[in-house]
Amino acid sequence: MIAKIQTRNLKVGMYVIIPATWLNHPFATGSFEIKSKDQIQKIIQSGFDEVRIDTEKEVAVIEPKPADQGNNKVSSEPAWQPGKLVPPALFEAIHDKRLTPEKKADVVYQSSVELMGKLLDDPKAENIMEAKQGISEIVDMVFSQDDTSHYLLRITSHDYYTYTHSVNVGILGIMLAKQLFRKSSSHNMHELGAGFFLHDLGKIRIDPAIINKSGRLTDEEMEEMKKHPNFSYKILKETNQLSEECGIIAMQHHEREDGSGYPRGLKGDQIHTYGRVCCIADVYDALTAERSYKAKLSSFEALKLMKEKMLNHFQKDIFEKFVLLFIEPGIKGL
Ligand SMILES: [Fe+2]
Ligand SMILES: [Fe+2]
Repeated sequence: MIAKIQTRNLKVGMYVIIPATWLNHPFATGSFEIKSKDQIQKIIQSGFDEVRIDTEKEVAVIEPKPADQGNNKVSSEPAWQPGKLVPPALFEAIHDKRLTPEKKADVVYQSSVELMGKLLDDPKAENIMEAKQGISEIVDMVFSQDDTSHYLLRITSHDYYTYTHSVNVGILGIMLAKQLFRKSSSHNMHELGAGFFLHDLGKIRIDPAIINKSGRLTDEEMEEMKKHPNFSYKILKETNQLSEECGIIAMQHHEREDGSGYPRGLKGDQIHTYGRVCCIADVYDALTAERSYKAKLSSFEALKLMKEKMLNHFQKDIFEKFVLLFIEPGIKGL
């Protein structure tokens, strides 16, 4: 079990996890067994008031007397276990106050791509559950660290693989939801974030030859492709990870305001705000992504195209809020 502990309560024999990259502490690695009191001093001197410990890796030096347990002040908050699917670097970077926002955004982005890669390779229930915990950390970071999330937004749009696309839409979706719902507490932002990241999960059940095809899909291939929202919904349901938010986003992210979308051809208010948000993030990312058969558009070109040629696909007010994301201070060179 991973638990929080005040550094002054650390003891020799504990297995410590320092929430920072190696640049910010004097040890070769950020997680290790404490062998001496000197190491505890060094952790404290490096400026850490609180760290994590892995209680399963503790060695016998610690005598768990009842009195000691009280002093250790191990937090009873649910254990968050990085490492299996969620790269520890994601957690470390998010909580490292000394990283620059730019560097932090870079590590968070790369770790998120790694996370989505592993998840899409093996989307079993426990992996989806763990991914959701990692995504919750990202959602909290986007809401609490404006600087970093602005940089995060700048990094999106690189190569077009389903997992980089998932991360891009995840980040864009959370940013837009933050813009729309910042004054409201009636939205479950963690589940919403999970929905954006997992919206295309169903693509793993579509023939890779169709997913990776360079160029236009035939009518038959398109019919196959149109099944992926249903598959996303089904996988989430089968793995007991289907929240209301995730379900709406999975099913509605290809619906269009004018009824030209799929799978159900919903129109206007028949489409939930969550579906409308994901649709905008999804189209923007597809336009700004580099693919073998098309050049990528710049942010400006993509937003211009969406406004001039595709506006009837989107809910206008939400699209306007989306554009605002890119012209707020902190985003330069777009
Ligand atoms: Fe999709
Ligand atoms: Fe998508």
